Amino acid sequence: MVSETRVSEIYSCAALRLTDGGAFRVFRAVSNQSAILVTGGAGYIGSHTVRLLASQGRKVVVLDNLVFGHPGAIVDEGVELVEGEVGDKALLTQLFARHQFGAVVHFAAFAFVGESVTDPLKYYRNNTAEPLTLLEVMRDHGCKTFVFSSTCATYGVPESVPISESNPQNPINPYGRSKLMLEWILRDCGHAWGLRSACLRYFNASGSSEDGKIGEDHQPETHLIPRVLMAVTGEISCVEVFGTDYPTPDGTCIRDYIHVADLADAHALALDHLMGGGDSFACNLGTGVGVSVRQIIDAVEEVTGRKVPVTYGPRREGDPPELLADPRRAKEILGWEAQRKDVREMVRTAWLWISGPGGGRFPR
Ligand SMILES: NC(=O)c1ccc[n+]([C@@H]2O[C@H](COP(=O)([O-])OP(=O)(O)OC[C@H]3O[C@@H](n4cnc5c(N)ncnc54)[C@H](O)[C@@H]3O)[C@@H](O)[C@H]2O)c1
Repeated sequence: MVSETRVSEIYSCAALRLTDGGAFRVFRAVSNQSAILVTGGAGYIGSHTVRLLASQGRKVVVLDNLVFGHPGAIVDEGVELVEGEVGDKALLTQLFARHQFGAVVHFAAFAFVGESVTDPLKYYRNNTAEPLTLLEVMRDHGCKTFVFSSTCATYGVPESVPISESNPQNPINPYGRSKLMLEWILRDCGHAWGLRSACLRYFNASGSSEDGKIGEDHQPETHLIPRVLMAVTGEISCVEVFGTDYPTPDGTCIRDYIHVADLADAHALALDHLMGGGDSFACNLGTGVGVSVRQIIDAVEEVTGRKVPVTYGPRREGDPPELLADPRRAKEILGWEAQRKDVREMVRTAWLWISGPGGGRFPR
């Protein structure tokens, strides 16, 4: 059993800050709205989305086990952070009894592709099995709206590029499969008990908040833009480029980098769509603009005014030459389109965070 106090532990900013004038205003403003549960909301994309939702006056409760999340990533007064597992039924039951959740936004997952190959059970347990408990508790409490962080990794090696949602989903690693299975589960729950879900298939999330207060702090960091910036600051000795002989204009791989603020906007619109009675859907979230590894390095040198130390190696197994979103469906359904399509915007904001007072790290 979970004790009463566990749910409102030290992270319960809401309770602690009720006496604060500003926070009181927030609570009054949102008192007529149902709350939104954001799992993994102390992580990178989740924390940016939580800030947006809070700024829209929505009541947000974050559930994060803090394995990769950071309490410091929750910056808004009035947002409650509960430390716990998505698979903890007793905790979830208590939370759903305390709040009238109108929707769940589910970011919580593990996302290291390489690790998923060496330890697949860890990924199937955390990304596929644990959410079953969350869905059961949602069903039992009549909460029927779910926004899911899916991924372009569910497509595997695409049949055609740009990748539209009609491309077959044939993931090539356990990470992608663990996500695709949850997409299927959501569809089945839709048929069985009326769950309405949005499967948002992100491409490469990047950038950080415009005020530099929050950003990407993964340990280890595997994403290209922060790694190139870490090579600039000396946190790593150099950045590795895997393959320079791909059939692309400069020989390096092309990817679709989507700004984290654009991702946050899409989540808010997906919530509006589903909570307004819209049907379940799946869509890509990308810019539709392809950017090569070489172009990222060039953008970093332009933004920072510093030379990037680079080493060149052979291709990595399983890296397709080009992964690029066809983002039209998101526009048709949500009216959403990425606003920050120039990769220098992603690099500029990521640099704000990494060159800021915390050096791109939350306090530990
Ligand atoms: N970053 C990307 O480029 C990208 C691309 C496609 C999809 N995604 C998906 O988006 C989501 C967020 O990615 P991110 O980069 O912000 O990752 P992240 O690791 O920064 O955030 C995930 C958060 O979930 C928490 N978490 C993990 N398992 C949990 C569990 N069982 N219970 C409670 N909390 C748990 C972690 O502590 C972390 O705070 C993930 O589902 C990821 O698969 C990310």
